[in-house]
Amino acid sequence: MDKSKRTAVIAGNWKMNMTPAQTEAFIKELAPMVAGLDGCSIVLCVPFVDIATAVKAAEGTNIHVGAENVHFAEKGAYTGEVSAEMLTSVGTEYVIVGHSERRQYFGETDVTVNQRLTAALKAGLKVIVCVGETLTEREQGVTLETVSRQTKVALMGVTADEMKNVIIAYEPVWAIGTGRTATAEQAEEVCADIRGVVCSLYGKEVAEATTVQYGGSMNAKNAEELLSMKNIDGGLIGGASLKTADFTVIVKAAQ
Ligand code: 13P
Repeated sequence: MDKSKRTAVIAGNWKMNMTPAQTEAFIKELAPMVAGLDGCSIVLCVPFVDIATAVKAAEGTNIHVGAENVHFAEKGAYTGEVSAEMLTSVGTEYVIVGHSERRQYFGETDVTVNQRLTAALKAGLKVIVCVGETLTEREQGVTLETVSRQTKVALMGVTADEMKNVIIAYEPVWAIGTGRTATAEQAEEVCADIRGVVCSLYGKEVAEATTVQYGGSMNAKNAEELLSMKNIDGGLIGGASLKTADFTVIVKAAQ
């Protein structure tokens, strides 16, 4: 597999952190630190209320702005939700769907992840779709089955052409926010399997061009080793994306 056929993407997932004022200060600080580091796409996925501020602060920089979720309907009676068109209307370029915290706390299923993904693609967003097994699933020996199923269902109805806007993030649930990272070998095994699933659905060319990220306690210390693996093309970073210095080290590791 030739890594040069795909774009490395280092994306922060801020989760429920940062106010608009903190967002502006963060991006103003980060921008000069990552200026000229064009060997990967740099994305910050931020809370809905921070998006407009982030887009403005990132103007003229190499930082792209994403959301952390999107609804599948175009509009209507969905209290508390935000549509894909609303996101693009304020300059959002990326969106995360299917994060394990959404699956765990907000009843997200493989099918609703697919619905959100297809709605986001239709609106022209680049989508980071998260998959990953729980600790129980790993212990039961069903990691690859679980991740394959999540990947296949998430991609239902997605065309080969649309795949250029899909990034798959492998995030083992047991590694998220725990400080317990998957070893580079464990992460590589599953990321390679995900690429295999994409290959079985769309063929080799699409599989080789699809960005597969690792996420789960990726930090300034372990990023380089994880990113050196053949099938790991970037990272989805939680905690370490809230510190400009740590996030910059990860961006540099992806160059
Ligand atoms: P941490 O990097 O804090 O473990 O979070 C990973 C994550 O969930 C990114 O989406």
